[in-house]
Amino acid sequence: MKKVLVTGASGFVGSHLADSLLEAGDYEVWAAVRATSSRKYLTDSRLKFIELSYRNANALKELMQTHDFDVVFHIAGATKQKRVGEFEEVNYGNTKSLVDALQGLRAKLIFTSSFAAHGAADPVTNEPARVSDECRPDTQYGKSKLKAEEYIKENFTSGNYIILRPTGVYGSRETDYFTYFQTIDNHLEPYLGFKPQRLTFVHGKDLADLCVRCGESSVRGRTYFVSDGNLYMDYEFAQITKEVLKTKTLKVKFPLFIVRGVVFLLDCVSRLTGQQFTLNKDKYNILKARNWACDTTDLQTDIGFSPRYDLKAGVIEAITWYKKEKWL
Ligand SMILES: NC(=O)c1ccc[n+]([C@@H]2O[C@H](COP(=O)([O-])OP(=O)(O)OC[C@H]3O[C@@H](n4cnc5c(N)ncnc54)[C@H](OP(=O)(O)O)[C@@H]3O)[C@@H](O)[C@H]2O)c1
Repeated sequence: MKKVLVTGASGFVGSHLADSLLEAGDYEVWAAVRATSSRKYLTDSRLKFIELSYRNANALKELMQTHDFDVVFHIAGATKQKRVGEFEEVNYGNTKSLVDALQGLRAKLIFTSSFAAHGAADPVTNEPARVSDECRPDTQYGKSKLKAEEYIKENFTSGNYIILRPTGVYGSRETDYFTYFQTIDNHLEPYLGFKPQRLTFVHGKDLADLCVRCGESSVRGRTYFVSDGNLYMDYEFAQITKEVLKTKTLKVKFPLFIVRGVVFLLDCVSRLTGQQFTLNKDKYNILKARNWACDTTDLQTDIGFSPRYDLKAGVIEAITWYKKEKWL
């Protein structure tokens, strides 16, 4: 039985990964949580819990040596920041601490970076983002993920790692795309800008299964974009959601310059008060980008990734779950 560690196990992706590993049956699964973490999705009695002290290098090293994990899935990350510097501290700093603690050990490291580490794909040529491209992240979040990737590549001496750059991840338990589903359910269909957006998605359960495959695979030292392999336009996403929710909507298109003005004002307030808003420069840069296509061919050939969910099937899974949980 392989002994594995899942950081961020209390979160959306991490909890699905814990489920996938338990379902596979061959793993002793250690869930890294914080004292404050919710264990709502971590109720399986086979799970073992552990708390990591990223700030205490010696303690973290000792813990990793004692446990001698076969695979460490580093899923924990900040996707929003409540204060300036949190992305850098969590996404880069904690990853660096973990890499340092794993030096010289046998563990394979699977790291969830993000498409944002690359930045959006070319909006003029409409070419998909590729791993061979030069990365140009234009968000604080993306920059922190790229820095973490670079640290792993340059310093993890065993070279025994795989870096995953998922595109938008959705599905049961997820809370950000949920607000979009909720908006459509409230008969509003929002668009930012007038030019259609090219989108890619991967379902949380597929990403979890992929992580398991990466842990098992003999492939090492590689970076992959992760999507379900399809390209969707923003209006198709809305159409699918409307069909699944069996609802009608009013389309509302917000011109980019108006949103940019609002973001500018909110950023001024942020700088003065330290308060962070959901709509900020990072979020605006993500929403305004027109091309989120990525090339996942290598993932299929190297790892044999074959997702269970296309967008329609995935939205059905998500909305069925939200309804069961009375979120919708
Ligand atoms: N969701 C997406 O669309 C998407 C796309 C690309 C990449 N990713 C990456 O995938 C990973 C998982 O994302 P998610 O959607 O599952 O996010 P999530 O639901 O917000 O979960 C984040 C997890 O990270 C933990 N965490 C956050 N800050 C931490 C800290 N300072 N110390 C220790 N643990 C901390 C959280 O623990 P608590 O429960 O205690 O807060 C939680 O378990 C992240 O690294 C994210 O950047 C996500």
